[in-house]
Amino acid sequence: MSNKMWGGRFATGPDAIMEEINASIGFDQRLFRQDIAGSIAHATMLAETGILTHEDRDAIVAGLNEVLAEIEGGTFTFSRALEDIHMNVESRLREKIGDAAGRLHTARSRNDQVATDFKLYVRDTIDTLVIQVQTLQLALVTKAEEEAETIMPGFTHLQSAQPVTFGHHLLAYVEMLGRDAGRLADARKRLNESPLGSAALAGTPYPIDRYMTAEKLGFDRPTANSLDAVSDRDFILETLAAASICAMHLSRFAEEMVIWSSAQFGFVRLSDKFTTGSSIMPQKRNPDAAELVRAKIGRIVGALTSLIVVMKGLPLAYSKDMQEDKEVAFDALDSLSLSLAAMTGMVGDMTANHERMRVSAAAGFSTATDIADWLVRELNIPFRDAHHITGQIVAVAEKKNCGLEGLTIEDFKSVDERIDSRVHKVLTVEASVAARKSYGGTAPINVLAQAARWKTALTGKAHEPKPLGKKKHGGHGDGGVE
Ligand code: ARG
Repeated sequence: MSNKMWGGRFATGPDAIMEEINASIGFDQRLFRQDIAGSIAHATMLAETGILTHEDRDAIVAGLNEVLAEIEGGTFTFSRALEDIHMNVESRLREKIGDAAGRLHTARSRNDQVATDFKLYVRDTIDTLVIQVQTLQLALVTKAEEEAETIMPGFTHLQSAQPVTFGHHLLAYVEMLGRDAGRLADARKRLNESPLGSAALAGTPYPIDRYMTAEKLGFDRPTANSLDAVSDRDFILETLAAASICAMHLSRFAEEMVIWSSAQFGFVRLSDKFTTGSSIMPQKRNPDAAELVRAKIGRIVGALTSLIVVMKGLPLAYSKDMQEDKEVAFDALDSLSLSLAAMTGMVGDMTANHERMRVSAAAGFSTATDIADWLVRELNIPFRDAHHITGQIVAVAEKKNCGLEGLTIEDFKSVDERIDSRVHKVLTVEASVAARKSYGGTAPINVLAQAARWKTALTGKAHEPKPLGKKKHGGHGDGGVE
């Protein structure tokens, strides 16, 4: 049997393989809400402009709402022979209301319909993702405030570089996520033009009102070029690009969690809720959730790559190639959403081992730069020379097999006579971080100020910086080191 929606000139139905490769209902059924909303807006506009009678409109709208209830209630039977969500919905509508259903497709095509549906879906998804990003940010800000005075090693090249505060490190991710939310919001702004009424590719001879449907669907305006409207997938590419960058940030953070929670580092302990045991090694506590977040970027960037390659070289306007946009995009956006949720859970439950972090922060002569800075500041020695002198001081400590804090004033003087006992003040990791008060620096006081700024921005309620010295002591004693 030929297709009842478009089979007029076909003598037979499609080959089974043709049906399989052609159908998108297996994945585009999740657009049902957007598809029905688009159709209701379209039918309403057709009636307002006199293209459709009010009786037909009423029948169509009521019928569509019934179809919506059936799909939501799980009683709708999707048919692969009907290819996609658009024809599944319309065909069911015809079963319900008869011929009036056939008038719904006046002045539109599945090409503008699918572009509209998918844009609406992506727009809704962006809105959810932005909220999820902000929820993760808030979890990080809350933790950062608690850990504003917790000292950990700061790394470059994954080698201990200078002490930093754990709160500062966490707030670095809050900044990244803030840019992610901004990129998503930006993609949403550009996306928000309605393709509906562009019809197959050239527009339509009916006196439709595209501004009306645009407004009903929450778009800012209709798209200005029908060829572009039905062949544009920038909106999902942009969203996937923003999603990829966000996933990259999550992957970096996840990697740090994996490193920090290892026995060798022991900086943090991830909760039982986000770790698993090993079936053979009873002592193990594996950071699976973090590892999976680290990995999800693969499929998210994969979706971006896949779709940009699909679009490359496609002549205007619509081609069926574009049906390949949905599966990968759904998977990528689902994956990002899940990753954000997992990260939020892990951050909230994570406990820091203050002792391990502090000991590690003090190792490796991490306050050497503070000595050089002191030589510059107090003795007016040029930085290059100060650097050299400090190198010699480090060599003395290495020979004595002690940290910089273990050096006596004689040790210092053996390198440079001009040094006096005031230098001892700058040798502790606490002094080192407290001194880094430059805007954006790691000092606890800065962390508390930035945390308050973010809390204000994220909650819309004014937050004052917490006072210093409110550090919760203890944290987590054994640090999850088995
Ligand atoms: N299922 C199709 C898609 O996802 C809908 C548009 C079909 N248009 C067409 N001219 N065959 O792209």
